[in-house]
Amino acid sequence: MAGVLSLSACSEQSADEPKAAETSQAMNNAMDVKQPEPVAAPKAPLADPMPAPAAKAPVEQEVQKVVEAKAEAVMAEAATGVSGEKVYATCVGCHGAAGEGGVGPKLAGQEIAAIVEKLQRYKSGEQVGPMTGMMAPMAAGLSDGDMQAVAEYVNGL
Ligand code: HEC
Repeated sequence: MAGVLSLSACSEQSADEPKAAETSQAMNNAMDVKQPEPVAAPKAPLADPMPAPAAKAPVEQEVQKVVEAKAEAVMAEAATGVSGEKVYATCVGCHGAAGEGGVGPKLAGQEIAAIVEKLQRYKSGEQVGPMTGMMAPMAAGLSDGDMQAVAEYVNGL
């Protein structure tokens, strides 16, 4: 008996459908007439969310950079057993605490691979620049692991 009841309920609903369609058509017509409304509506919702992410993003990116640089240095130390920070302590006098340069050239902002490559050239005895005589003895004492660690540390400064 329940099945028969629900079937009849269904047929009653479908009988209502044409009416619903007529209603929505009528609503569409009403919307066609009031066109300015949808244009005005989005203004308020768009204005609020925009400034918030724009103000946050640069700060979050800077934090992300610092965190990644620190993580790289920690991972390098774990992989090589060498602390780039400790190695760089012997370089600070000539290249600056922030790698900004002094007696030696600026190192901050240089790619890790570029720093390692130059250190290898100094170590091999190659004449790199006019003051190679000052830098070569420093590179001579560095192992491959030291070079990688100090380059990653400098890159994160
Ligand atoms: C006594 C001062 C002195 C110390 C200490 C020193 N450097 Fe240097 N460094 C120099 C000078 C001077 C040059 C430029 C040499 C040349 O003209 O080829 C140089 C060049 C470099 C360069 C090449 C930079 C470029 O842009 O061409 C790198 C990389 C570098 N040093 C890394 C280091 C690291 C790493 C340490 C510590 C392990 C270190 N230096 C310690 C004086 C120093």
